[in-house]
Amino acid sequence: MSPLVQKRILTATNDPTLFKLLNLLFTSEGHQVAQAISAAETLDKSAALKPHMVVIDDSLPNANSTDLCRRLRQRIAARDQAILVISSKTDFDDKIAALEAGADEYLTKPFDSKELAYRVKNLLAHVEASADARVEPKRHGRVIAFFGTKGGVGKTTLAVNTAVALNQKSGGRVLIFDADFFFGDVGVHLNMPPTRSFSDLIEHIDRLDSELVEQVVLPHASGIRVLLSPFRPEKAELITPEHVKQLLAYLADQYDYVVVDCHAAYDERTLSILDRADEIMLVVTPEVGPIKNTSVFLDIAEKLGLSLDKIHIILNRSNSDVGIAVQEIERSFKHRVQFSIVSGGRPVVLSVNHGQPLGIVKPDHPVYQEISRLADWIIKNSAKN
Ligand SMILES: Nc1ncnc2c1ncn2[C@@H]1O[C@H](COP(=O)(O)OP(=O)(O)OP(=O)(O)O)[C@@H](O)[C@H]1O
Ligand SMILES: [Mg+2]
Repeated sequence: MSPLVQKRILTATNDPTLFKLLNLLFTSEGHQVAQAISAAETLDKSAALKPHMVVIDDSLPNANSTDLCRRLRQRIAARDQAILVISSKTDFDDKIAALEAGADEYLTKPFDSKELAYRVKNLLAHVEASADARVEPKRHGRVIAFFGTKGGVGKTTLAVNTAVALNQKSGGRVLIFDADFFFGDVGVHLNMPPTRSFSDLIEHIDRLDSELVEQVVLPHASGIRVLLSPFRPEKAELITPEHVKQLLAYLADQYDYVVVDCHAAYDERTLSILDRADEIMLVVTPEVGPIKNTSVFLDIAEKLGLSLDKIHIILNRSNSDVGIAVQEIERSFKHRVQFSIVSGGRPVVLSVNHGQPLGIVKPDHPVYQEISRLADWIIKNSAKN
């Protein structure tokens, strides 16, 4: 897979020697190079590829590089795209005309390849700095962690459908982050192919930016964005609690709601999520094992530095006929059950198996109706904070 910080360069030249030189220069730096051999192709490829830089020389048939430069500039602002003109015209007026038409640099042939490399480097740095300087409004988003002390209690089903409901109801930007690093299955629940994951961001974690993150965060048809967990265990092992903290700080600035599907254990990485979370949705089912483990978690939550005020118990499959009443569960927890989600039977399991969230295929289903109410509460509670 190609590096994420690579730049897209479009070379508009019909000169094979120049193309070879430019191609070598750019690819050796890890950039992606496309070629156009006419003015029309340059305009088409510039629109389609949105290159960071266009290099135009005066070998294109029936084309004037100054004119082409002007037409490119009418479409894309200088801060988003650098234009370098390479020309055999050494007349000062030609140079001024190209610069007035929107070129950032004008290099006359013959030139030294070291000078070319220097100018290109400067231009790309300039485009990058302008992108960094563009102020993106911070969103102060809410981080909502779905956690459970036992596997299989319904964390992912509830997290995915809550994200869908938050997107439908709030009109804000919603992202789901799969933080079950070894066994994450948000991708399965949403039928998303494993193309990019959190692993792709680790080496850039100190300087995340929207262009980089947008390449890794995948859009889902429901409108939510998805950050998948690593696809290989050796990649998952590299993630540290600090990485997770830095990621969540960035995501909360960019999204209104960051829904996190956690791993069912309180390891350091999960604790860094629970610590940052604005709300912890603690999922439990009416079974002896999950109830016992959840009681232990609630007993030690404060020692783990987690305020009990932000922990909300969700009893999933609440109507399962297993002889344990809600009151008994609340007595054991010494906390009230804040939300109950009924057992939804086959349609819920089918929606998971088909990778189509209930909120999309069966929005009237009682389980989704209850999840919608949960989303309403999250939205209302966010407004208060
Ligand atoms: N309320 C419900 N009604 C019917 N089926 C449900 C309900 N909640 C969850 N399930 C089903 O239970 C199964 C396990 O759910 P899910 O994968 O969401 O659990 P999990 O806690 O994320 O598990 P893991 O710990 O393995 O990640 C899924 O097939 C899901 O469809
Ligand atoms: Mg899961």
